[in-house]
Amino acid sequence: MNLADALALLERSAAEAAAAVVGAASLDDLASVERDWLGKRSPATAVNEAIKTFGPDERPRAGQAVGAYRAAVTDAVAVRRSELEAAAAADRGPGLDLTLGGHGAVRGHLHLVTQIRRELEDIFVGLGYRIAEGPEVEDDWHNFEALNIPPAHPARSMQDTLYIELGRPEQVMLRTHTSPVQIRTMETQEPPIYVVAPGRTYRNETLDARHSPAFHQMECLAVDRGLTMADLFGTIEAFAKRLFDDESVRTRFRSDFFPYTEPSAELAVSCVFCHQRGCRVCSHTGWIELGGCGMVDPNVFVQVGIDPEEWQGFAFGFGLERIAMIRYGIDEIRTFFDNDQRFLEQY
Ligand code: DAH
Repeated sequence: MNLADALALLERSAAEAAAAVVGAASLDDLASVERDWLGKRSPATAVNEAIKTFGPDERPRAGQAVGAYRAAVTDAVAVRRSELEAAAAADRGPGLDLTLGGHGAVRGHLHLVTQIRRELEDIFVGLGYRIAEGPEVEDDWHNFEALNIPPAHPARSMQDTLYIELGRPEQVMLRTHTSPVQIRTMETQEPPIYVVAPGRTYRNETLDARHSPAFHQMECLAVDRGLTMADLFGTIEAFAKRLFDDESVRTRFRSDFFPYTEPSAELAVSCVFCHQRGCRVCSHTGWIELGGCGMVDPNVFVQVGIDPEEWQGFAFGFGLERIAMIRYGIDEIRTFFDNDQRFLEQY
């Protein structure tokens, strides 16, 4: 190869290389084009080898031509590489790699007490009741006095009270039961009244397996003309059958005392687990105590300006945690408030 051949080879190769680079369809393709036109077996290497045989005055010319060829092909490869990389990135989309594994969204659910509350509300709404509400911070009048529990009445000591502010003429407390909602409802609504009032209640108690300073109750109040204990019993029976989804559930009423009902009764249902053969849930008695009930005391009606000669009423109240504990065989009331997901997830 003489100098003229070398220059002609480089010129031809530069044109072919440029076409090959532009025609490279992928980064892999481009790498092999680069090897062909700049690598060990490329025209540039062949000319370099031949330079030794050229005369001293021809060598610089040849050297410059090889340098110019290399620079042109290298630049063209770089341009094409960045084009191909941009195209590949656009194909992948905006940083989204659908082949990556996901984290999965964990779906939560309602707390067990909320589930029970809603279920009970549904049962009573089905019986024609409305939902009533009252404040968790109550005054002495609604929590005790209007319910026929005057100061120093022994019934107050049945409920250890959490007072907000002592020594004021008007005492303020966390309500000890949902019964004050009876008063608030009768103060603002004309009979006939059919309401249930679910909500949080508080007592000055130390937390143990069966007691909690905060818990939930549901109150029921019906005021109408001509209501009798038969209506009370029938309502509780209908509700117990729906709640435990068992037509064979029986109810038991034993004489009891509450200042706001007369007569009053303790309310129990036959054990839905052993059907009264005796088991752990009913402590081998065959009966499960749910709460208290009775006919609204005429004194309570007088306090809220309802004529007890014209209107009669019945009321009952029970604990929501207790219902959940019976239904699911839970023996620790603390588990409702610990917020341990391992417990909550089960229901
Ligand atoms: N308030 C009572 C308690 O917390 C439960 C209760 C008893 C509610 C008798 C009533 C009732 O409505 O008539 O223990």
